[in-house]
Amino acid sequence: MDETRRLKREKALRQLLTSEIQDNVILGIGSGSTMALFVELLAYEIRRGTVQNIVAVPTSYQIKLLLSKHGIPYRDPWQVDAVDIAIDGADQVNLHLQAIKGGGAALLMEKIVDSMSNKTIFVVEEEKLTDILNKPVPLEVLPSAISFVMRKVRELGGRPTLRIAPAGKVGPVVTDSGNVIIDVDFGDIRDPESLETKLLQIPGVLECGLFCNIAHSLYVGTLDGVRVYHR
Ligand code: A5P
Repeated sequence: MDETRRLKREKALRQLLTSEIQDNVILGIGSGSTMALFVELLAYEIRRGTVQNIVAVPTSYQIKLLLSKHGIPYRDPWQVDAVDIAIDGADQVNLHLQAIKGGGAALLMEKIVDSMSNKTIFVVEEEKLTDILNKPVPLEVLPSAISFVMRKVRELGGRPTLRIAPAGKVGPVVTDSGNVIIDVDFGDIRDPESLETKLLQIPGVLECGLFCNIAHSLYVGTLDGVRVYHR
């Protein structure tokens, strides 16, 4: 990770921690490198005593391991009625707060936890902001449905690729829930909300990496400061 981008994320996360995270909350935590940094910063604040009595609801083994390392208590989503506030990263986001997520293959649990939350905040560095979403859209797919889903997304104009593990495992990436990821390139996505609806209607698609009506706020880290947007 480029040091400047890391610095921008850190600025945004620090401001968010001060302005949004109160004592005694059930806190949803997304996955990926931004959220790993968030857990480190949160752990520091808990150790200093500036934030108390946090119960986390993590979205992956990655985040569970980090929470365990720092002794921060956590629950699975089924163990809580609701989440007070959820913090999450994104791969790309526009100013309508519509995002593409799933670069870390945690989109299914992220969408569940983000949707359970009374307030959801995305945090990115400015390089991830765009006018038009155009990154490939990850789909979490039941393994038995791989070929069927590929056919259906081609009919929608997409170019699907089964995500293959880069190292440490042969074959496809298998998610924490035992499914596979198909990344679908649609080029410029002019109507993300309608595409999200269409993708979720395909049998075998368990979740879609378009997150359209989920985030309430967006923190964007820049070198000059942090910009905050609301939906
Ligand atoms: C995890 O599946 C993703 O949704 C992440 O939130 C997204 O990929 C952003 O990851 P980074 O924070 O590592 O850029």
